Amino acid sequence: MNDWHWHYHDYQPEQERLREALCTLGNGYFATRGAAPEAEANEHHYPGTYLAGGYDRARSDVHGRTVENEDLVNLPNWLPLRLTFDDGTEFSLDTVDILDYHQGLDMRRGVLEREVRFRDDSARTTRLRQRRLVHMSEHHLAALETEITAEDWSGTVTVESALDGSVTNSGVERYQGLEGQHLELMATEPVGEDGIWLKVRTRQSRLEIALAARTRLYRNDEALAGEPSLEQADERIGQTFTLQLDAGQPIAVEKVVALYTSRDAAISECGLAARNAIADAPRFAALLAGSALLWQQLWQRFDLELELADDHDHRTAAILHLHLFHLLVTAGPQVMDLDAGVPARGLHGEAYRGHIFWDELFIFPTLNLRLPEITRSLLMYRWRRLPAARAAAREAGYRGAMYPWQSGSNGREESQQLHLNPRSGHWTPDETHLQRHVNAAIAYNIWQYYQTSGDTEFLSFFGAEMLLEIARFWASKAQLNQTLGRYEINGVVGPDEFHTRYPDREEPGLDNHAYTTVMAVWVLCRALSLPEHLPRERWDELVAQLDITPDELDHWDTVSRKLRVCFHGDGIISQFEGFEQLQELDWDGYREQYGDIQRLDRILEAEGDSPNRYQATKQADVLMLFYLLSAEVVEQLFERLGYDFDPDMIPRNVDYYGARTSHGSTLSRVVDAWVLARSDRPRSWRLFSQAVESDVADIQGGTTSEGIHLGAMAGTVDLMQRCYTGIEVRDEQLVLNPQLPDELTSLRIRLRYRGQTLALHITHEQMQIRAVSAHLGAIRLRIDDRSVTMQPGDSQVVPIKEMPVAVHGP
Ligand code: BGC
Repeated sequence: MNDWHWHYHDYQPEQERLREALCTLGNGYFATRGAAPEAEANEHHYPGTYLAGGYDRARSDVHGRTVENEDLVNLPNWLPLRLTFDDGTEFSLDTVDILDYHQGLDMRRGVLEREVRFRDDSARTTRLRQRRLVHMSEHHLAALETEITAEDWSGTVTVESALDGSVTNSGVERYQGLEGQHLELMATEPVGEDGIWLKVRTRQSRLEIALAARTRLYRNDEALAGEPSLEQADERIGQTFTLQLDAGQPIAVEKVVALYTSRDAAISECGLAARNAIADAPRFAALLAGSALLWQQLWQRFDLELELADDHDHRTAAILHLHLFHLLVTAGPQVMDLDAGVPARGLHGEAYRGHIFWDELFIFPTLNLRLPEITRSLLMYRWRRLPAARAAAREAGYRGAMYPWQSGSNGREESQQLHLNPRSGHWTPDETHLQRHVNAAIAYNIWQYYQTSGDTEFLSFFGAEMLLEIARFWASKAQLNQTLGRYEINGVVGPDEFHTRYPDREEPGLDNHAYTTVMAVWVLCRALSLPEHLPRERWDELVAQLDITPDELDHWDTVSRKLRVCFHGDGIISQFEGFEQLQELDWDGYREQYGDIQRLDRILEAEGDSPNRYQATKQADVLMLFYLLSAEVVEQLFERLGYDFDPDMIPRNVDYYGARTSHGSTLSRVVDAWVLARSDRPRSWRLFSQAVESDVADIQGGTTSEGIHLGAMAGTVDLMQRCYTGIEVRDEQLVLNPQLPDELTSLRIRLRYRGQTLALHITHEQMQIRAVSAHLGAIRLRIDDRSVTMQPGDSQVVPIKEMPVAVHGP
């Protein structure tokens, strides 16, 4: 293990689907799972290729009801490369005798490698070396290089190189009862001597996708005449080559693939574009050099170098690189020109159907501080769906914009109506779509992006409009409770998806949900502060366009001072009104009975019970406030609402809710690790270490193979990047207040703040900070409660004071 390679040294069929997800390659435009080229979808393998924004809808019958779901479509498989020996046996890892095996992701260069030595039934030994890439800059291209060496025999093998359009969406076990056929074939044809192409169309969204493949053979770098035979069957097209292998003489097979769709810019027709691209593409080595160059440049921006107290621990550093790698696979620079959001499960599998949730909240901070142009593009995905969000608010009887909990192609609500509990086999109504807090997440992301990048143009023309419409939504959702003289936000669901309704109430939804409410106040305050951030004439234009009157602004101000939050016990913020009246769960009893109780909701439903009855949460909910907002800001918001808030309440709430969560979402430990970072460093590190393992160790037992958890991946990087460095972007300043955990001896990181690149080196004793970019203006930092102005080229060395053990928002 080193910091830059992710390896497997054995073949374990039952681990394959997990490894496929973790070895996915991509560039933000498309991604392909790390499935073996000879594998077809079955119990252990699931080849999958997904396009950013490539959705299609299909209807299914579930218990006599027709439901419509929108899926991120599994595109034709470009990988197939099948070897057949002259005795007619086909190469498969499941049938040969494996002598040596190695599969590894070279994260620095973006290459997936596999090397297998095996003995077949005729006792012949063969070596297979494969490398593949999805090109980071030539974003339509991918390539697979295969080197075959007959070690102790000579003879013939046939190699079939194919494009397979017969794929379906069938990668998630619990969706098997739902329609998964999204593609219809339009064409399969040969291209010149050494190429094939295939075109399909999605059935409902009518998106056309063309793939072309060129396969060439080389011995000692000399091209061999291939003379392949063509096979076309149903939705599959392939070329079969017969190779004469001489003992010890490797033959290389290079497959270069192009993927285009009818949505691409600067093309005439996607089939033509794909065919032209394979004709023009260079050989594998040149493609690799070009792709690796962009990876190298990306790593200069995204890298983080850790030194751990246990200097044999390369695993943590390697996992954090893997997390950054998959962030770039999903939201790499090639996403910038697209109309795409960032799916919670990456472009790595079909869980949650490629939908976009609030997880951006955990993903964008890393992009903001490294390549903020990507965040801008992802926020534009939301801006283009503002009309859909306005329509949704109107339909629900509100004003402003109500963004969907799950978003896909056109911004309508894509949450499923029914979901299957695999434990009980029951289909139950899904009420989680009432998570209106997604609105606050979008507003928060806009503000963070603006504060970090200083991009006032974005704020002026796009961000402010979304912010104002979201603020307007909250003001219209808040109802005055005459008796209490307070406004209430009722009928919502919070991040904790175990609670969607009161046990004794017909209607779903909860009242006075604290996180939702306090974030609504935060949004209203940000919206009211916009005149200070926008040019006067732009503000005037916006209020005229949106018909915002002074009375409406006054109303927002009133609501932002009079919303209702409930408390119980000794300064505990009630997750929602009445939370404390729910029963306590017998956590030990359930742990004893079931072992893993992360998905307590499924356990309780299968028992005929419901988590709605218990003080048991799926994930951090109230604690989200301390994750997103500094103690100072939380205090200001409560003060504005007229509630007493004392920072000592933070550890009490952390303990109270920490003891009542099953961490059924991988996001949860990230939040808990964050809020404990200053008060209980060992516990924070333990939670961080568990969060780091979320995907690589598949801690939810089977979910990672269906797609990575990008929020947790980016969130763990962000714990290093912002939490342990105490970075906050606030009031036109970058605040730095590092406090490394004991286990971390040094951290080197490069960040971009308002166009300036800052190189940081932090240890327990000191922080060195250097403003790298030579030509830019000065930036303002706050270090140790001092304001520091840094000119380009300036360096500072600041001694670190050991923090008193007091809770302090990051
Ligand atoms: C979590 C949500 C999250 C979603 C997608 C769910 O299990 O509860 O908070 O947005 O997964 O990652």
